[in-house]
Amino acid sequence: MKIRLKINGKDFAPHIYPSMILLDLLRDLGFKSVKRGCGTTNCGLCTIIMDNKSVLSCSVPAARADGKEIYTLEGFQDKAAEIAEFLADEGADQCGFCAPGFVMNVIALEKENPNPTEKEIDEYLVGNLCRCTGYMSQHRAMARYFAHKQKEA
Ligand code: FES
Ligand code: FES
Repeated sequence: MKIRLKINGKDFAPHIYPSMILLDLLRDLGFKSVKRGCGTTNCGLCTIIMDNKSVLSCSVPAARADGKEIYTLEGFQDKAAEIAEFLADEGADQCGFCAPGFVMNVIALEKENPNPTEKEIDEYLVGNLCRCTGYMSQHRAMARYFAHKQKEA
């Protein structure tokens, strides 16, 4: 079947097969920032934004994306670079495997709640697993990032 959707502001009309998962569709279309970690909705690596909500693309049938507006990390390169600087400054940028999903969820949080408390940041990002950092450096980096955004506002 054919679906129509918008990805990072551009129109697409791909053919999909009935059991296709959105994660695979996005990668087939060239959006390689969308990674498969667990494939079972447990790691956060496949996070995208669909109709302004953070979504695990490994959990969504591709058919459900018909008519939707999707953003991947490729659509937020400047924002991703800005967030990455805060992660690097706190030593939270180690192997980088978790980074695409983590950064997408930070962007989704900022859209939903531009002034989160530290507790809200932690709660929002709890699904993004990281095997390297122990989370404290990520926590410090994002607390500093959102404080910085507040000063800019
Ligand atoms: S690959 Fe989707 S949550 Fe892990
Ligand atoms: S930095 Fe290695 S998994 Fe997060």
